[in-house]
Amino acid sequence: MTRRPYIVGNWKMHGTRAMLSEARAIDRAAQRHMKVEVALAPPYTLIHPIHREAEQIAVGAQDCHHADGGAYTGDISAAMIADAGAKFVILGHSERRTGHNETDALVRAKAEAAFAAGLRVIMCCGESAETRESGKAIAFVTEQLTASLPALADLPGDIAERLTIAYEPIWAIGTGTAATTGDIAEMHGAIRKLLVDLFGEEQGAEVRILYGGSVKPENAAEIFAVPDVGGALVGGASLTADSFMGIALAASEPFEV
Ligand code: 13P
Repeated sequence: MTRRPYIVGNWKMHGTRAMLSEARAIDRAAQRHMKVEVALAPPYTLIHPIHREAEQIAVGAQDCHHADGGAYTGDISAAMIADAGAKFVILGHSERRTGHNETDALVRAKAEAAFAAGLRVIMCCGESAETRESGKAIAFVTEQLTASLPALADLPGDIAERLTIAYEPIWAIGTGTAATTGDIAEMHGAIRKLLVDLFGEEQGAEVRILYGGSVKPENAAEIFAVPDVGGALVGGASLTADSFMGIALAASEPFEV
């Protein structure tokens, strides 16, 4: 089975209730693009309001804590975001790894907590410009993912349904310059091989691998034509329904997953 293309908007720290009209417009447009799975990860404060109104799109969070509960001032558990209506959580984003010193081991613990709470996980990975220039991008991402993913015993049975990978080279995030289709093909191929090694031919071949980093309506179609690209994790261009759904439209054309 080939899964539908998955187009996920990461609103990062953008959005107050004034943005609910944009989420509504995205939800309405998603109802016209049923060949594509559209989802939004707004700030925590907007998860429940969007969940309450959305008819088509799934709502998720951008992070969660690894513990079930306790004395963790300011933190939010996987069960809490699920209770607010989140169906998935983005974990290991480079802005968390860099800005909050999140290690692979911490990201792995968060993923275990998210799966235990019944959430789907979008696991991010990606190398810095320095690592790419040194020719070690593939080795770095392979190691980062291996160390960030829970062991097979801690993963749900339906891995391909519950787990998505997002390859986001740090140097392409928010810069306006996406990775080349050649670089994306090479990295996604390496990630696919790792997934098959870890989870076996059947499940490993089905886990979707999203590309993220300066995806826009103008470059989406060529990125989606790259083998092993199963959709996109979109930052800036997900903040308006027009540009976000322009990307979803490009994904609704047939492309190889
Ligand atoms: P941009 O699409 O703004 O480059 O951000 C990508 C990203 O970090 C999504 O998680």
